[in-house]
Amino acid sequence: MLQTLKDKVAVVTGASAGIGQAIAQDLASHGASVVVSARRLERLNSLAGQIQKGGGVALVVQADAGDAAQIDALVEKALAWGGRLDIAVVNAGRGLAGGLLSSERGQWEAMYQVNVMGAAHLMRRAGEIFVRQGRGDIVALGSVAGHHISPFSGFYGSTKWAIAAVAEALRLEVCGRGVRVTTIKPGIVSSEFQEVAGYGADFEKLTAKFGRVLEPVDVARAVSFIVSQPPHVHINELIIRPTGQDYP
Ligand SMILES: NC(=O)c1ccc[n+]([C@@H]2O[C@H](COP(=O)([O-])OP(=O)(O)OC[C@H]3O[C@@H](n4cnc5c(N)ncnc54)[C@H](OP(=O)(O)O)[C@@H]3O)[C@@H](O)[C@H]2O)c1
Repeated sequence: MLQTLKDKVAVVTGASAGIGQAIAQDLASHGASVVVSARRLERLNSLAGQIQKGGGVALVVQADAGDAAQIDALVEKALAWGGRLDIAVVNAGRGLAGGLLSSERGQWEAMYQVNVMGAAHLMRRAGEIFVRQGRGDIVALGSVAGHHISPFSGFYGSTKWAIAAVAEALRLEVCGRGVRVTTIKPGIVSSEFQEVAGYGADFEKLTAKFGRVLEPVDVARAVSFIVSQPPHVHINELIIRPTGQDYP
């Protein structure tokens, strides 16, 4: 039987847009108290307002998900506010168009900083807390682009390959102590992601044949399902694609 999320406290990074925003809304609709974080404060305030209007509970914490000190402060604020932490959704991230030769070299470090270094730091902080309390869920956003590496968006794919490896290593480290670590690998989701990554007309051509792509809420429903499993059940990896997506 699925467990209620009432009385659970969740942190969601990258909650100002797309998948993270939908995850925060869905977790809140299932009763979780949600700490929403990103850099764009107005977006977060508006999301928190929507959640509260729907009867939910939310706290806004502005933070750069690539900055270790700001991640530490986010975790401390969440603990102080909720009195506990049960779920960490490690979602903040960005793409980068092009392969190794064609991607913009000046963006490599910034992308690695948020997609890998910051994500791993948050997983470590949440992992420490969850091990102490003997329970907790860490959900990291990977990607099909990190599952099947391809020249298209290859360097971005390497960040998602890396975070899936980090998540699996952490799962093995903490699963014996009641902590679950899940990697979700979505296919194409309609969000601001494509614009931020700099995907152009080629991407539109590639995806047109896939038909309808995923909406952020499609991924959010999967996250709520995963963290609602009873304590002895762990869905530790999930790939979710638009039905018509045959690449990557
Ligand atoms: N869309 C897809 O097709 C797709 C597919 C597979 C996986 N994913 C992964 O899913 C996650 C969410 O993507 P999305 O599609 O929802 O993209 P999105 O619409 O562009 O949203 C990205 C979110 O990440 C936040 N973010 C980015 N850099 C940040 C930083 N340095 N510090 C704090 N927050 C930061 C953004 O907030 P601020 O700009 O306000 O900080 C925003 O809330 C990413 O990890 C992405 O790699 C996406």
